[in-house]
Amino acid sequence: MAERKGRPRHFLDLDRFDTATLRRILDLAQTLKRERHTNGSQRLLANRALAMIFEKPSTRTRVSFEVGMRQLGGHAVVLSETECQLGRGETMADTARVLSRYVDAIMIRTNSPTKLAELAEYASVPVINGLTDDSHPCQIMADVMTFEEHRGAIAGRTVAWSGDANNVARSWVHAAVKFAFRLRLACPPPLRLNGALLDWVQAEGGDVAYVDDAEAAVDQADLVVTDTWFSMGAEAAEKRHNQLAPYRVSEALMRRAKPDALFMHCLPAHRGQEVTDAVIDGPQSVVWDEAENRLHAQKGILAWCLE
Ligand code: CP
Ligand code: NVA
Repeated sequence: MAERKGRPRHFLDLDRFDTATLRRILDLAQTLKRERHTNGSQRLLANRALAMIFEKPSTRTRVSFEVGMRQLGGHAVVLSETECQLGRGETMADTARVLSRYVDAIMIRTNSPTKLAELAEYASVPVINGLTDDSHPCQIMADVMTFEEHRGAIAGRTVAWSGDANNVARSWVHAAVKFAFRLRLACPPPLRLNGALLDWVQAEGGDVAYVDDAEAAVDQADLVVTDTWFSMGAEAAEKRHNQLAPYRVSEALMRRAKPDALFMHCLPAHRGQEVTDAVIDGPQSVVWDEAENRLHAQKGILAWCLE
């Protein structure tokens, strides 16, 4: 494969993009969703290959990227940490250099944002963040796409997050600034995201704030979002369970949001913990559309990275 000139188009974190580029990716995603049965889209990435490195488990990310590449005419190669030489100590930098000679893009799911940065630094092909302990930008692109399909422009709307302030929440914070919506975060004070993130929001003129409780967060919300209380790598502990119990999304909580508020969850869900069955299976839940849109949003991301 020929060396590329200049820096590749990485998809690392939403805060690194301007709004116009994120909008362009979402437009590509919508076009590819609409035109998924046409010859043009089925050949868009003909003969292109994506390597996917997984240091953590996945259902949606793995299947949606693999199927997405296939639908665009390319293909994907999956590497789990234990099956490739990363697991035996080969550096991320060397892995990046080698994979860049075989494939056209690399997606990675890793615990460490530093490893993601190292991969991006040394790869001469685009690198896509498929989740780190800090963020999950592909997910939030799918979520914004899903909200807008159901309710129109997200700008000016109110999104409520109730639960652990984790990697997914951090990408929601980035999105709130980039897509100009209000974000209210209800989470136990000891679990809040670090102050630097809110300093960034303030510097960017965003509207993101912590509120005291879940009821205050969902008041006037157009969308209520939550996620697991125990992200991959976190130990299930009773203390954390008790801290987070008041933030569970229940029917009673949903009644405090706008009557037409949507419910989202990136999945996998832990039913009975962060969300009740009645909510996730209820009329306001769009979690299956959200999961489907991982496929379309990531096709938009791949198309943008490789266009
Ligand atoms: N939401 C999400 O990223 O799911 P997976 O962990 O199954 O990929
Ligand atoms: N916060 C969750 C998201 C899973 C897609 C985790 O990191 O495990």
